[in-house]
Amino acid sequence: MIPNTEPEKQNYYIEKLHELVDSFIEQKHRAPTFCIVTFGCQMNARDSEKITGILNQIGYVETLSETADFVLYNTCTVRDNANQKVYGRLGALQSKKKKNPNMKIAICGCMMQEDSAVEKIKKSYRHVDLIFGTHNIYKFAELFYLTLTNKRLVIDIWKEADKIVEDLPVTRKYPFKSGINITFGCDNFCSYCIVPYVRGRERSRLPQEIVKEIKNLVEDGVVEVMLLGQNVNSYGKNLEESITFAQLLQQVEQIEGLKRIRFMTSHPKDLSDELIDVMKHSDKICKHLHLPIQSGSTKILDKMNRKYTKEKYLELALKIRKELPDYSISTDIIVGFPGETKEDVLETMDVIRQVEFDHAFTFMYSKRTGTPAASMADQVSNEEMKEHFDELLNVVHEISAKRSKRLEGTIEEVLVEDQNSHDDALMTGKLSNNSIVHFAGDKSLIGRFVKVRLDESKGFYYMGTML
Ligand code: SAH
Ligand code: SF4
Ligand code: F3S
Repeated sequence: MIPNTEPEKQNYYIEKLHELVDSFIEQKHRAPTFCIVTFGCQMNARDSEKITGILNQIGYVETLSETADFVLYNTCTVRDNANQKVYGRLGALQSKKKKNPNMKIAICGCMMQEDSAVEKIKKSYRHVDLIFGTHNIYKFAELFYLTLTNKRLVIDIWKEADKIVEDLPVTRKYPFKSGINITFGCDNFCSYCIVPYVRGRERSRLPQEIVKEIKNLVEDGVVEVMLLGQNVNSYGKNLEESITFAQLLQQVEQIEGLKRIRFMTSHPKDLSDELIDVMKHSDKICKHLHLPIQSGSTKILDKMNRKYTKEKYLELALKIRKELPDYSISTDIIVGFPGETKEDVLETMDVIRQVEFDHAFTFMYSKRTGTPAASMADQVSNEEMKEHFDELLNVVHEISAKRSKRLEGTIEEVLVEDQNSHDDALMTGKLSNNSIVHFAGDKSLIGRFVKVRLDESKGFYYMGTML
């Protein structure tokens, strides 16, 4: 009998998949392989870890090569260039599948929540075997079983999520750190943004489920967590027993053995004084706040439906600078939103200079079909957008270079994360404030906290010496 409750139903399919893998190994004398390519944000990265968890559980082995027995693209659709990358790579997969006819190809993630993308794949990329969306990731075992036992294309896309399913296996990319979903979806409907349409309405996980998950992770060696939500500040609002994000942080802070807490993303419209106070008195919350501004012009912010003005943002950011002086502040900026003029861009530059962002991620506006901004008049030409983008980037670089110089010569605690990809003799670590430092060391340091002197700031990173 197939169970009709979750996660029991998925565990049933995990067992069935196990049997399929056993017979694969018997026939081919090797374990089947998989390769997941993840586009987009931390949410997608976490979803990929959940899918990896199930594949590992059933006996698939991960490889970085897209010639694997199972290849999955976890897609992003926040800007059009993300979509184009997926189509390019998907096209290239066709010849790889010809060499390995048993290969199964799947595509999931935010792009698959758009009808037009699904239609295009069905029509032009017939080598795809499985398509699913963002709301039914928890059903992956079931969908994968159907794909392996079926010759036809399997499609399962839901408009909304039905439930939050807990307690399925997860494989982390890093043994010592992990993302944790605290909310799913978004209700803010910024007028340029596709996320509320592809990720659905905002839902919070229960605090006790979040704390339980983190405790288990800590027992398994995790020292740093990143709490994930499109707007973490609205965490808990729709729960029966309402709880604020600041209160959740206080519960997470109590977890013994956990060393660092990060979170993303904070919407400026509802960052509370309570949260600033909790950050101020915390020993574990990292000294970094990502506070996307999008634009410094009140006129544009209004059209973006961001629900704050230039002055409100400045007031908040300068309060944070005052209350939390050793915090770094990063931001996101969109250039070329419909109706944006040179004057608006100058307003944004003014905020960058006043707040002195440590980092700013700048994006050229990308029109997303179905969002209110897509049908606004005065779409900005590509030339103008590029010109403004380059001007803005110059200011961003000038300011962040100035900010990072401040820490030159200081000694900081660093969590060692990786070996440097260009130079084996160098290790890469992260400061509490999210800055990156490279220093001489060896792989045995990965996952450990060490003291590093920041010798020289190079703009995006430091070169340092381990003490
Ligand atoms: N929930 C987060 C953002 C998620 S999307 C927040 O509100 O901050 C990440 C970033 O992508 C956004 O901050 C925005 O700067 C950018 N972005 C979103 N839609 C975009 C679009 N249509 N064109 C260009 N950039 C966009
Ligand atoms: Fe998009 Fe705005 Fe929601 Fe962020 S808060 S995901 S920018 S709609
Ligand atoms: Fe992209 Fe979806 Fe994240 S659209 S930015 S992967 S929520």
